[in-house]
Amino acid sequence: MTQSVTHAAEALIEGKLVAFPTETVYGLGADATQDKAVAHVFAAKNRPSFNPLIVHVASLDEAAAHGEFGIEASELAKLFWPGPLTLVVPRREGCAVSLLASAGLPTIALRVPKHPLAQALLRAARRPVVAPSANPSGRISPTTAAHVREGLGDKVSVILDGGPSAIGLESTIIGFTGGRATLLRPGGLAREDIEKALGHKLGSGGDARKPSSPGQLESHYAPRAKLRLNAKAAKEGEAYLAFGKAPGARFNLSPTGDLTEAAANLFRLLHELDTTGAKVIAVGPIPDHGLGEAINDRLKRAAAPRSPS
Ligand code: TXA
Ligand code: MG
Repeated sequence: MTQSVTHAAEALIEGKLVAFPTETVYGLGADATQDKAVAHVFAAKNRPSFNPLIVHVASLDEAAAHGEFGIEASELAKLFWPGPLTLVVPRREGCAVSLLASAGLPTIALRVPKHPLAQALLRAARRPVVAPSANPSGRISPTTAAHVREGLGDKVSVILDGGPSAIGLESTIIGFTGGRATLLRPGGLAREDIEKALGHKLGSGGDARKPSSPGQLESHYAPRAKLRLNAKAAKEGEAYLAFGKAPGARFNLSPTGDLTEAAANLFRLLHELDTTGAKVIAVGPIPDHGLGEAINDRLKRAAAPRSPS
């Protein structure tokens, strides 16, 4: 393991792309201080370049070198880092991170991941690492090294294999730039946990057509098949993705109705359902609390009319 982490860190320093596991999903990493390396990420993913990237660092101290943390941002960082939380804060002046990573915004999205391989890589590379999910733009996020190989295999220098992602959903993104803590993207850390820590409700990120966080683009996270949501059962010719008790269902997000388990299984099962060749995937109803909010968000995007990119 040490050998492969050292090798991966060297590749990053040389400006190459390295896919690595985090507890949320696999990331497509590049040295955040090299414009060219960051540009490679956009190119490899075929991502519209107005989409800013999350900058990964090993600790809050390092994060504070790149962004300005107010009281509430610091509080959340101390409580939930390392973990499935991304904080968008004002960029520090003279910050070493490529402006391309912020896509021209005066803000920066920072995250300290918990996965031991991600931590080891960040410490070995001794620099901030941009890492969007390691999938071609508009496709499902990868939760195994095999997904990364399938989607981007020929574009990355190294893929670190850390097994299936424990959480399986991208990080929750909270913005601190409009005066009020705002939920920009629901994700692997439930809104309720954050609101409890802050002692007040989060502002909501708003309109998918005017994305302040482009993870909010309408069609995103799309499998090849079409999706039909809140389906009690499959119609003729549809594949069924169940949640909770569903005797005989071949694909079930969580037979016991556990939302955390469902989150961890979501992208893997969508991948699997896609390989069955079904034209339509009917998805059972999923409660909208806890991690259910993020699961329903991803499903809605996957079901939305497809945009060209
Ligand atoms: O769990 C995750 O967050 C994964 C792992 C690899 O860390 N990464 C991930 O990155 O999901 P990505 O690039 O697929 O999603 C990043 C989201 C995008 O929706 C982007 O618009 C938003 O973060 N974002 C990045 N910088 C931002 C900024 N300065 N202001 C607002 N949104 C920002
Ligand atoms: Mg993504």
